[in-house]
Amino acid sequence: MITEESVREVIDTARIEDVVGDFVNLRRRGQNMIGLCPFHNEKTPSFNVNPSRNIYKCFGCGEGGDPVKFLMTLEQLSFPDAIRWLADRYNLKLEEKEVSQEVRQERQEKESLLLVNDFARKWFEDQLYNTEEGKSIGLSYFKSRGFRRDVMEKFGLGYAPLQRDAFFKAAVAAGYKEEQLEKLGLVRNKRDFFFDRVMFTIHNLGGKPIAFAGRILKKDVKAPKYVNSPETEVYHKSDVLYGLHQARRSVRKLDNVYMVEGYTDVISLHQHGIENVVATSGTSLTPGQARLIKRQTENVTLLYDGDKAGIKAALRGVDVLLVEGLNVRVVILPDGEDPDSYMQSVGTTAFGDYLEKQRQDFLFFKADLLLEEAGNDVAARTDAIRSIGATLALVDDPLKRAGYLQQFSGRLQIEESLLVSLVNQSIADRRKQAQKEQEREARRQQRRGREDQRSAEPKGRGNRTPPPPPAAGEEDQWAGLVEPSWGDEDVPPMPPPELEDLSAEEPPQTLPDLPLLGHSHQEQHLVYLLIRDGHKMYDPEKNMSIAAFLTANVADVLGDFDHELYRKVVSLVTDYVRQHKSGPDANWYLHHPEGAIQELAQTATVSPYTYSPNWKEKYGLHLSQKPPEENQRLAAEIFLRVFRMEKIDRKVKENVLKIKELAVAGEESRLKKFLKLQSRLVEMRKQLASELGTVVITK
Ligand code: GTP
Ligand code: MN
Repeated sequence: MITEESVREVIDTARIEDVVGDFVNLRRRGQNMIGLCPFHNEKTPSFNVNPSRNIYKCFGCGEGGDPVKFLMTLEQLSFPDAIRWLADRYNLKLEEKEVSQEVRQERQEKESLLLVNDFARKWFEDQLYNTEEGKSIGLSYFKSRGFRRDVMEKFGLGYAPLQRDAFFKAAVAAGYKEEQLEKLGLVRNKRDFFFDRVMFTIHNLGGKPIAFAGRILKKDVKAPKYVNSPETEVYHKSDVLYGLHQARRSVRKLDNVYMVEGYTDVISLHQHGIENVVATSGTSLTPGQARLIKRQTENVTLLYDGDKAGIKAALRGVDVLLVEGLNVRVVILPDGEDPDSYMQSVGTTAFGDYLEKQRQDFLFFKADLLLEEAGNDVAARTDAIRSIGATLALVDDPLKRAGYLQQFSGRLQIEESLLVSLVNQSIADRRKQAQKEQEREARRQQRRGREDQRSAEPKGRGNRTPPPPPAAGEEDQWAGLVEPSWGDEDVPPMPPPELEDLSAEEPPQTLPDLPLLGHSHQEQHLVYLLIRDGHKMYDPEKNMSIAAFLTANVADVLGDFDHELYRKVVSLVTDYVRQHKSGPDANWYLHHPEGAIQELAQTATVSPYTYSPNWKEKYGLHLSQKPPEENQRLAAEIFLRVFRMEKIDRKVKENVLKIKELAVAGEESRLKKFLKLQSRLVEMRKQLASELGTVVITK
């Protein structure tokens, strides 16, 4: 474990402009620097770096923090790994405290195995580019597939020659131990495991080679097309996705990942500018892989061949993704094409268009497929419907599920209530099974005794830098709201420096409209929530509907809505609730005299509902553990708090600007009024924050 002094030294040394500058092209603007945000997709820069405070902040997506946080978020590093990265960057030597002998040995062992693999990668590459055999067989093959040199290097492609101990000899000559070569599956009994094949390097998230795959070039041999490294200390197949290291940044930026089957598909798409793509390597997806994706994005698009096998593959393993709460879509390629071949044949533009046009929600895809197969056969239809119900039951998010249910009852032409009961039955079964599984696991754990791997992580580092997923603690410092002294005193405090430094220098046109987007989005959520669930019960005892609950609680911020239509809907519903003592159901909206509202209702009931990323991530688990009725209620409550929080945040920010203005103008008495308002807002915010748990969400 890294000593605290070392951590301190790294933190004191690291400069935000250096670290961000390694990833983002920055331009000076006044005292700050500005660039395109690496965390979301944008065309005009709203990503600010403030060297004097050593922090960054994006006014588009709200990401912000110090150098460590930047690395943790962008590169998905743990805290200690971010510190190591920085130490490396600044050539600082880290002092590590004694960790247990075992842990240290294990770590050293792993590190040295990674070094061996890296040697192997270089050796395979050297064979490919610099030997006659490699060039004439391997390189010409890759070239015939149209692979460019830069892309080949990015993916660590290589060549393993015919001679069956060429690698073994080279590795031993370079000083690597036979035992380690064996451990990595590179060598067996002094003979090479990979020979006469072109090589694909499999990287971990950090870009280190952890395993290899070799593709045969000869046709009509019995040998398998691909051979892979075995499971090793550094390679746990079920927790690895091919290409994720190279895809990661694009995945986060575009908030979607394409999933293909083959190594070559990944490489080919990359070369044509589609970088958010990973491969499952022909096996079904594991929960570990689904979680890996979940940490990068919630949206997965399966991209499979148009033949029967491809479609089967698309159906297989998707459950795992749904269980993890991912939104799954699917694109089926024309019959006989795989992503690589199709890209090569139609080119980037047509390929992109195809993806756009053919993309459909996985659940609808599956339903259509099953129903089409069933045709008019009643028994087969029943089976199909049951199977769809079972898949729907995997969707944990109650709102999302409700959206699907409504749509499906239309598509399948069966009563929604019937479908609901099918789904509920499935959920109950699943829950029972999960419980059994848990009990079994608990017993297993007890037997094994616990082996705590986490002792390697530094503890007690306070809340300076939050562990991933990034908590919002640091962002509070941005808003300058949690310092207890502020706003409580009679002396006018200085306006918080972060707003002065960053927002004041922003050209006025970028600042005001960016947050608006976020709010409209939340407002839309609110309205969707009303349309879908408004008529359901929030509190049966008090006979209070979700609509009543929601409208009562947003009445005071109605004037602050950004989107006129959403404001109008909420206010109409408020009136409706007052008159009818209940909430209108979806039909009311669907038949509303105003066209815009009808349209809104159509979208709300048709598109799969997703929570805003912030609170889904933070409360998703929490929600899913409750039975559906409670979820609905909880969902409404959490939503509301987050919603109000955002409105209050905005008020706070506006107020701060006002205070600053008045302080500069020396208008003492008005200043006092605004300061009072400020402290009340801060109070409200604190209250909300505590109700939301420890997390404060700022946007
Ligand atoms: P090309 O045919 O060269 O385009 O390769 P590909 O990657 O597209 O292979 P293919 O579509 O046949 O298979 C898809 C994926 O399944 C491959 O990338 C491999 O990960 C995996 N795969 C295919 N054949 C084998 C095999 O024989 N053994 C193993 N272990 N994996 C295989
Ligand atoms: Mn292929």
